[in-house]
Amino acid sequence: MKPNYMLLALVVLLLALQTGCGAARKNEPISGPLKIESEEASVGERLYMWHCNQCHPGGEAGLAPALNDKPAPGFAIQFQVRHGIGAMPRISDDQVSGGELDAIVSYLVVLRNR
Ligand code: HEC
Repeated sequence: MKPNYMLLALVVLLLALQTGCGAARKNEPISGPLKIESEEASVGERLYMWHCNQCHPGGEAGLAPALNDKPAPGFAIQFQVRHGIGAMPRISDDQVSGGELDAIVSYLVVLRNR
């Protein structure tokens, strides 16, 4: 079978983008309450709590790596969710629709920019 170089390149790019630096610990006692100003991000927060928080608690590391310390662009986050690279299960659009995933991404952007 011919290896899929496009997919491989995308995975390498994704991993490179996600290996940003910054403090993973950004929760309330350290940085104060989170201010969510957009409607989309607050919808995203609720969806995140339902679909992602059990493994990425509050955007910080838990069972899974922290998400609030990486400058990964939205498409890279969406790619990770749809393909479930590594130990993360893939989440299909029956579980989380495209619009819902956009909302989750805008919540994650608020989280990491706090
Ligand atoms: C069942 C647990 C689980 C759930 C639920 C889950 N993840 Fe993950 N996620 C993981 C694990 C484990 C990894 C690390 C994968 C690896 O590199 O092996 C990961 C990695 C990631 C990464 C890449 C981070 C990095 O540093 O490489 C992103 C982005 C991500 N998850 C986003 C999400 C989002 C958004 C949701 C909700 C829609 C979600 N995850 C739900 C377990 C989970």
